[in-house]
Amino acid sequence: MNTIFPVVGVIGAGAMGSGIAQLAAQAGSTVLVFDTRPEATQASVSSVAAQWDRLQAKGRLDATATQTLKTRLSAVDTLAELGACDLVVEAVVERLDVKRALFSELEKILRPDAVFATNTSSLSVTAIAAGLQHPGRVAGFHFFNPPPLMKVVEVIAGLRTQVQVCQKLMEFTRQMGHTPVMAQDSPGFIVNHAGRGYGTEALRIVSEGIADFATIDRILRDQVGFKLGPFELMDLTALDVSHPVMESIYHQYFEEARYRPSVITAQRLAGGMLGRKTGEGFYRYIDGVIQKVPEAPVPEVGEMPPFWVSPRAARRAELLSLLKSLGAKIETGPSASPLALTLVAPLGFDITTVAVVERLDPARTVGIDMLIDDAATKRRVLATNPATRTDMRDAAHALFARDGKAVSVIRDSGGFVTQRVVATIINIASDMCQQGICSPRDLELAVTLGLGYPLGPLAMGDRYGPTNVLEVLFNMQTVYGDPRYRPSPWLRRRGAIGLSLTHEEN
Ligand code: NAI
Repeated sequence: MNTIFPVVGVIGAGAMGSGIAQLAAQAGSTVLVFDTRPEATQASVSSVAAQWDRLQAKGRLDATATQTLKTRLSAVDTLAELGACDLVVEAVVERLDVKRALFSELEKILRPDAVFATNTSSLSVTAIAAGLQHPGRVAGFHFFNPPPLMKVVEVIAGLRTQVQVCQKLMEFTRQMGHTPVMAQDSPGFIVNHAGRGYGTEALRIVSEGIADFATIDRILRDQVGFKLGPFELMDLTALDVSHPVMESIYHQYFEEARYRPSVITAQRLAGGMLGRKTGEGFYRYIDGVIQKVPEAPVPEVGEMPPFWVSPRAARRAELLSLLKSLGAKIETGPSASPLALTLVAPLGFDITTVAVVERLDPARTVGIDMLIDDAATKRRVLATNPATRTDMRDAAHALFARDGKAVSVIRDSGGFVTQRVVATIINIASDMCQQGICSPRDLELAVTLGLGYPLGPLAMGDRYGPTNVLEVLFNMQTVYGDPRYRPSPWLRRRGAIGLSLTHEEN
């Protein structure tokens, strides 16, 4: 096999280094592994060999291929033995001083054209390269855990990185069977930056008392199709990992409001409620099994009131036909009769504001989230305002559950759960395009492969309607007065033409 880097050194033989060594050997390179702890180096080489044996047992490798791979991988005891490497990838401890000292040492050993790659996930590639004689040969090469299974690799250009160094790493990634994406050096690169909105916005919703953890998880799984809700995800990642990342990116962006972390995770981290690995996070775990929180039952309702739909409701025609299919009595007059439940479907506005502005009786007003086509979701979400009567809330809940679809009822807020979280994700992604951190195409690839989202953020924006997303953000900015919801200029410009790749700007 013709590999672009015939001899590769991997430094730091932990979880990441071992996975990278495995992939490099599979790409055809001779791989030399070094760690300051010789026992770690040996353990790493043995674990990769055992992994190949497992692949052979499953029939994914034949005996000759397994043997060939094993001959490509060996442990070395000193850095000096890496002198012939065409590429070194460091996956040592995440400390700037350690990584700088290591590369400075390697400059004395390797040829000036050998490439230095760093697997850092949070340090600046530019800062790691600063002070070297040849900073142009340093690039970020960010794998995800576990490297053999996580198919996306971020190639990161520092300020001085030569273009051909990135091109070679992109090619090497393809030879490994993975998908490269190209990022400019910036906090969180692509995946960890684009992933900021999901957890932080969900935490804000909890902190405002609008819905509990389990309800938010259910809504985002069932309405948007996320595999895990944000709180299930934080429990899996563990707060000792995810909270520091939230803080780090927020501070690295000089306290940009969009990335503001939450006191909820800071406190839970301090209290040791880290998630699945400690048996208790947002959920409890018994023998590693999540203890699901039961849902509120559908209320029994004797007599249903008639329903009247605000003329300003989002997807009004769809909402009316949904009501009809559920067997509701529908009022069609210019205003609601005194008995009617008034249904509003705002984008970004809270139910109270809508009731006041549209001169509706707040006691009979209930909101429904119509951002997403009802047929495309597995759950409907209703919101009350503080004045909504219990009989009106229960009637709406019972009616919308009539066909067996799940229903959640949340408290009043600017924007429903899905609107807030989805708009935040799309806005952050748009701002990444605005800043030129990566191409829209690579952003979509990195998010779907690296975060497992059902759609890339830009495709999500197009699916739900860029103008709808903009309306959510504009109105939330009005309700909250928080720059967090200020739409990115890129999103505003693209509002009219669409966000995804097929649309080019004039
Ligand atoms: P780890 O703690 O499992 O392994 C690090 C290894 O580096 C240890 O075996 C240690 O003995 C060795 N080491 C420390 N200083 C060294 C030096 N100066 N020279 C040679 N070896 C040295 O760490 P892990 O999780 O494999 O992470 C390594 C790097 O990869 C870090 O920079 C981390 O930020 C990054 N990373 C980690 C991810 C993860 O999910 N664990 C994901 C993406 C990047």
